[in-house]
Amino acid sequence: MNKKIIVVGSSNTDMVVKVPHIPAPGETVMGSELLTIPGGKGANQAVGAARAGGDVVFIACVSDDTFGTESIENYKKDGIDSSYIKVKPGLHSGVALINVAADGENSIAVAPGANSHLLPEDIARARDAFEGAGAVLVQLEIPLETVLATARLASELNVPLILNPAPGAKLTAELLKMVSVITPNETEAALLTGTREINEETIPEMARALYDMGIETVIITLGSKGVYLLNSDFQGVMQGYTVKAVDTTAAGDVFNGALAAALSGNKTVRQAIDFAQRAAAISVTRMGAQPSAPGLDEITEYKF
Ligand code: RIB
Repeated sequence: MNKKIIVVGSSNTDMVVKVPHIPAPGETVMGSELLTIPGGKGANQAVGAARAGGDVVFIACVSDDTFGTESIENYKKDGIDSSYIKVKPGLHSGVALINVAADGENSIAVAPGANSHLLPEDIARARDAFEGAGAVLVQLEIPLETVLATARLASELNVPLILNPAPGAKLTAELLKMVSVITPNETEAALLTGTREINEETIPEMARALYDMGIETVIITLGSKGVYLLNSDFQGVMQGYTVKAVDTTAAGDVFNGALAAALSGNKTVRQAIDFAQRAAAISVTRMGAQPSAPGLDEITEYKF
């Protein structure tokens, strides 16, 4: 039996408008009807991992409004243990305002609401769930002190920590030292390593800098170009899969969720990356965050 995956992170509802192009500052663009879609980096990764075959516990904070209540119902439908989700009345649950352009690219603004109330004490309360888990997966849409508490507990209990450092932020050496697998995109990697220019030469250098901070497995995601992997067995690009992009929202989240599911199911790092790249590529072919996350059979059988 696969070990549990603990996902700690945000739960949002995405308010999505399809637009011909992403509006420039000061520009108004007429778009499609409003789509209301379950999202949030933490929740997308929890759903991505569960659909990819993982046994997932999701730790988050929502409010007692309609968005929060519906989110929890959705997580349960995906078989996710939602018993550690805190419901904090009197706030709004997390909301993201998303534009999706005709080429599938997006722009996102997040109103974190209840996500900002997921606290270190909520992590301490979930200690039982962490014990014996196969992986802990966390991102940065919740308070940094909570991310740190998550890392400390994972490290104390010897559970590998996967950090998806999104949205991008500068992080302390103390936090990064506790990370087993890190999955920044190029911009996030540049921010973490203080790199000014992103190009073919600096990507391996950024990976090396993160590896030298004590992170065993560095995976820099390169969008449609695949990923750059650096660990003790391999350094170089692993190609991704080519698809026609409809909506790239949550492709990174689906990648991280599937990666965690594959690693906790004892695949090698390279097998897990390939599996996660398949899942992410499929997600890009359809609209929305959580609705786009594929199931295990689709990930293994999809013909690219
Ligand atoms: O990574 C995509 C997610 O970012 C969206 O679902 C949105 O909620 C924001 O958190």
